[in-house]
Amino acid sequence: MRKLFGYSDQISARPGDTVKFMVSSLDGQSYHADIVRLICGDDSPSGPGFKETVVETPINGDYPGRAQAINDGSYVTVPGGPILDGITSFTLQALIWPTTPDRGRQALLGKWCDKAQAGFGLYMDDDGALALRLGDGSGTVETVSTGVAMVGREWHFVAASFDAASREMRVYQEPLDENPGVGETVSASHTAAIAGPVANSAPFLMAAQCEAPGGAAIGAHYNGKIDSPRLASRTLDRAEMEGLVQDPMPAGLEQDVVGWWDFSPDISGTRVTDLSAHILHGETVNLPTRGQRGFNWSGREHCWRHATDEYGAIHFHDDDIYDAGWDADFELVVPADLASGVYCARLTNDQDEERIPFFVRPPVGQKGSDAVFLISTATFMAYANMQWPMNATYSEVKKGGITVLDREDVFLQENPGYGLSVYDKHSDDTGVVYSSRLRPIFNMRPKTGLWSFNADTHVTDWLEARGQSFDVVTDEDLHQEGVAAIADYRVVITGAHPEYWSTAMWDAMVAYQHRGGRLMYLGGNGFYWRVAYHDDLPGVIELRRAEGGMRYQQSEPGEYYQSFNGELGGLWRRLGAPPNTLVGSGTVATGFDSASYYRRTEESNDPRAAFIFEGIGDDEIIGDFGTLLGGAAGVELDGASRKLGTPPHCLVVARSENHSQLYFLVPEETPFHHPVMSAYENDRGRADLLFYETSNGGGVFTTGSISWPASLAHEGYDNNVSRITENVLKRFLDPDPL
Ligand SMILES: [Fe+2]
Repeated sequence: MRKLFGYSDQISARPGDTVKFMVSSLDGQSYHADIVRLICGDDSPSGPGFKETVVETPINGDYPGRAQAINDGSYVTVPGGPILDGITSFTLQALIWPTTPDRGRQALLGKWCDKAQAGFGLYMDDDGALALRLGDGSGTVETVSTGVAMVGREWHFVAASFDAASREMRVYQEPLDENPGVGETVSASHTAAIAGPVANSAPFLMAAQCEAPGGAAIGAHYNGKIDSPRLASRTLDRAEMEGLVQDPMPAGLEQDVVGWWDFSPDISGTRVTDLSAHILHGETVNLPTRGQRGFNWSGREHCWRHATDEYGAIHFHDDDIYDAGWDADFELVVPADLASGVYCARLTNDQDEERIPFFVRPPVGQKGSDAVFLISTATFMAYANMQWPMNATYSEVKKGGITVLDREDVFLQENPGYGLSVYDKHSDDTGVVYSSRLRPIFNMRPKTGLWSFNADTHVTDWLEARGQSFDVVTDEDLHQEGVAAIADYRVVITGAHPEYWSTAMWDAMVAYQHRGGRLMYLGGNGFYWRVAYHDDLPGVIELRRAEGGMRYQQSEPGEYYQSFNGELGGLWRRLGAPPNTLVGSGTVATGFDSASYYRRTEESNDPRAAFIFEGIGDDEIIGDFGTLLGGAAGVELDGASRKLGTPPHCLVVARSENHSQLYFLVPEETPFHHPVMSAYENDRGRADLLFYETSNGGGVFTTGSISWPASLAHEGYDNNVSRITENVLKRFLDPDPL
């Protein structure tokens, strides 16, 4: 059971920068903190061994522990004020697309304080029916419900009104689809025993309710979409309500409209616009999904930028999270003499140990090496707190048919709230689109499974073992600074799985190559999905899993465009920029049961490739060993393809073979009911070890396999995978043009 964990505000820093660490100690136990340089995070018995060294810094020391709460669930908050407090008679209405009407009370719209039992609010009740409640703080709560459950994943018009003079409460629930079986058009009314709502300190919320005065605690989260929410200061009849759905606002109703919220502006941001005269703008909290199909989506346009009025819905989830917002426990000013590399804040006490990773770059203009290791932070974020080991479909192939959970998986099952990865589905079975690093990420840690962050420490371990100096730079740096982040380096080295690339990162790598930069891609399934970073919100990425690619969840049609920047999301291959154009190969097959080896090809004898095989001797077989499934060619495989843009002069110097029958071609390689999806029977399912020269003396070396770095340390780093990698690195560091 995890008891001690945290996160940092910065993932990349230079000497002189401040990194804040936020820690939660569940039992309140104190802990000791040290800064450590991490060399190798692989503590498995067959690996090179766990390696770290303590760095003396002023923050090393003992700290009191305290538990910090995690509050997930997205909603919109509109600050209270005299206008909202003055509400007596009213109408509330919206279009909604509920996804979990069977899951108990979920608040929709209202200014309601549950503890004070005061205010007014529209909600789905325990029966999944639309209901209205009123409270005057006396303890009497008046409710009226349609008594009919709404149908999940169907649009409904919902409304409620209250007339303070007659005390009549009324609710309306009408499915927009009038086909039989999708629900009933119902309404209900009730005469309240109280005079009406009273002012309270709660803000006006959408998709959640205030549990306690002042809005400190939020609950009753709603799952599903809300579109066109409105609030009027009198009872409207049904025809007038219809007028409020329309845009623009009908003449004559303006003076009665208190809130006319339109979710279609600011789709990229957190602001929610009120078009009424009262300008009661709101803010989204915990990043509900925007740029989603509205109730009036016609299918005419699939991009929200081209038909914003049809994208006026926000999809809320009870497990959305952006910034945990914890208080900082200590702040590290990165020491001036700290070498660039991978570091962790190591926290220890009797009950647990935790390492919060961060990456240190050299001071500006003072590189420590001609080689830079590109840290795949976008990919680490994409996988953050992934829950799919719990999904039997994938765990079956993961470890020979046996579901193996590590303690982080168990902790996250028992302690929901820390958010999901973009591999997961939300609790309402819709795909996760955003992933943040401003929360504890239990799988971006050393001593976890050999995937993503931890697997990439095989590269740092090997560089250290071979005495090769290196700096580090992260995906976020590359995104923010463009090619300038890497321009000074002769060689960029990737980790085992640099899968997620923003457009700015991609463009930076293209520019680097054009300048004569050398790229060593030591992994597989890289350069695969486009993601977006946010211009204003730090530490979060967006992914739309559009058509093609391995999709453990997938975006709905019409929702392929990234809300952060309006770009079409999906596979780079499908966007017209296959990874083959950048690194010579692209993903062709995956398998998780075993790994294999490469066999040298005729092309390896080309004089242009001679430097790669120096000292390799008669070895025809490359990498029939390794910590990750026993071979250097495994897990996810990339192959060359002239058709997809592999340069004509590319030399495929070795090709993997003999993969198991559990290796399958990826979906984009099997466009029809292909009889040989198993890579075992299909020549496409191979990893290609390749090299080619690029402009201005540059070059590319690609392994095309996730398990390559896990073979580097075999036999004390004395093996043909290590030798080939070192041969290439040495040649790429040599300024002579390739
Ligand atoms: Fe992946």
